[in-house]
Amino acid sequence: MVRASAPGKCILFGEHAVLYGQPAVAVAIEQRCNVTITDSVDDKWHLEGMIFKPEKHPHIDGLRKRLWNERQPLTINIDSAVPSGSGLGSSAALSVALAAALRAKRGRRVAADGSWHEGFSASLFQTDAYSKPDKGDAGHISPGGELLFGRAALDSDELALLGHAIEAESQGGRASPTDTATASYGGAVMISDRRERGFDWLCSRRLATPEGDRQWEVHRVKMPDNIDQARLVIGNTGVHSRTATVVADVAAQLKQNPERMLEIETIGDLSRRGASALRSGELEELGRCMSENHLLLRGLGVSCPELETLIKAAAPTSLGVKLTGAGRGGCMVALTMEPTLTCGAIELAGGRAYISEIGCEGARIDMESGN
Ligand code: MEV
Repeated sequence: MVRASAPGKCILFGEHAVLYGQPAVAVAIEQRCNVTITDSVDDKWHLEGMIFKPEKHPHIDGLRKRLWNERQPLTINIDSAVPSGSGLGSSAALSVALAAALRAKRGRRVAADGSWHEGFSASLFQTDAYSKPDKGDAGHISPGGELLFGRAALDSDELALLGHAIEAESQGGRASPTDTATASYGGAVMISDRRERGFDWLCSRRLATPEGDRQWEVHRVKMPDNIDQARLVIGNTGVHSRTATVVADVAAQLKQNPERMLEIETIGDLSRRGASALRSGELEELGRCMSENHLLLRGLGVSCPELETLIKAAAPTSLGVKLTGAGRGGCMVALTMEPTLTCGAIELAGGRAYISEIGCEGARIDMESGN
């Protein structure tokens, strides 16, 4: 049995704009998705006590093909505190947590010098996590090496890479690596089309999207201790929103009005300002940038009355407020020094509120037995 978990994410800056080469900043939140896998009691795959239906769960099926293939069927149980369809990266957290559980249970062959005999990596091998594997495992495999299981087999970069491939596959080919990188690495992450000075570069990602080839550079944003004085309060409208639909609508709008790309670029400028404020612990500036980002997102048509109600309720006790994720429902986020008050205001306005520290731990194995 292996139990793994990965955090949800909250985008502080740059949602939508990140799909057009602009920077985005996201942080891992306290709410996590827990995935447990055990050997199946029969020759079938099971999910949450039911026979697994691959067509209903493309994320799970994509990972099964890439990491498990014809091995013994498994039983998967999911226990997630990340609400789905709400812009908090629930599918990325699930993909990354399941990838971690599968890799820990499957193990990885590693040479004495630590180099891999198998796996998906953008830097070590030309492995393609993105194409649909038709048969076998698509990762690099070579004979030899010692088989390591559990935590020793995990690699954050591999989890982020697999997670992004799976998200892209199930999101109509449009997915930035923001959600999956945050779920995998944890902390605060900045995604951009270039290497950003002053931030720790982690990896590159490439994807062929319907709008053309995209490349993203993934960075870690190191935060000073005083960030811990503030909290994020996330308000869920309860209105379900489908990322792929909202993203496709924005794409259509920009195609029709190319001059609106200027707004996307302005969001990018705000992301850079916000990332610097996060790095230097300037909480008031951080909040200001968030609120400015929200005005631009509203202008793009991705807010909705329910989000505006929660944002208005949270604003008086917050340093900054904005929608987070794809929008048109889902969640808003407030940066606040008075989380209990902000939480109460959101709930009074009809939202479900969650408090989180800023930048929690990434994917991890929580329990392993029987390997
Ligand atoms: C979704 O959480 C954020 C979007 O920017 C889409 C993406 O980055 O893949 C809207």
